[in-house]
Amino acid sequence: MAAIAYVNGVYGPVGDAVISIEDRGLQFGDGIYEVVYVSNGRLVDPDLHLARLFRSLTEIELSLAQTPAALMVVIKEVLRRNRVNTGLVYIQVTRGAARRDHPFPPAGTKPGLVVTARHRPPPPQDADDWAVNAICLPDERWGRCDIKSTNLLPNVLARQKARLAGAYEAIFYDRDENVTEGAASSVWMVDAQGVLITRQLDRHILPGCTRAALIHELEQRQISLREAPFSLAALRAAREIFITSATSFVKPVIKLDGAPVGNGAAGPVTKLLLQHYLAHITEPDASTGA
Ligand code: PDD
Repeated sequence: MAAIAYVNGVYGPVGDAVISIEDRGLQFGDGIYEVVYVSNGRLVDPDLHLARLFRSLTEIELSLAQTPAALMVVIKEVLRRNRVNTGLVYIQVTRGAARRDHPFPPAGTKPGLVVTARHRPPPPQDADDWAVNAICLPDERWGRCDIKSTNLLPNVLARQKARLAGAYEAIFYDRDENVTEGAASSVWMVDAQGVLITRQLDRHILPGCTRAALIHELEQRQISLREAPFSLAALRAAREIFITSATSFVKPVIKLDGAPVGNGAAGPVTKLLLQHYLAHITEPDASTGA
């Protein structure tokens, strides 16, 4: 069965989909996106993802004709047509097609909207099978990483460097050598003193929906967390490191720049939080709106 995409109002095979070469997503990376995991036919935290999508749109001064509810109808239809029960849905909104000129296109230019879906295996049950290596790289991105922009060149280059180094993720650090986030994930650690830490939200990191959902789980279980800056040196001395995202859930990082993290295996806190997160994605209230 050919994969079906929704492209600017039309559902059709991905291979036949057409986008203007004048689309500003292509010309300038002038657009935003979301990635949502689908677990057993239900979107995970759809409200968080839709809220972030509309926030990103507001921040880049782009207005979409569709309401969140109308967008949800399209998302569900793409999932249905692709028979995706467990997988991912991608939503991309661009500033539309217009003659190439950097400032915003004329009023009335229709935003581009693309929704696609793909199958993914169910989440791992065991943290050890899910563990990866990471490398550390300077954060060379722009000053508004809180916007989920399709402009991902630094992230692409960083993940490619990671791949060439035999690693899965690249963890970024800023000019003060404080950790920001992963090229496509939020970064957490259990520091040398045993404190669970993730960086505070600001303009330098994406407000991860998985991060938000996991923080909610921690609060429910009265597990303490520090949201504060932490240095690359502290990361290197961490007992445990893990990353979170819609595609990696809670993913142990067991080697950093080739050196083992802690004892070189997924740690107890990471394992526990993966279990809590897996429970979250299968519980009914993760599916609101789906
Ligand atoms: N990336 N930080 C960055 C830079 C990201 O690209 C992502 C997600 C996250 C985690 O966000 P969330 O928990 O909402 O997925 C943090 C997606 C998965 C991607 O680009 O494919």
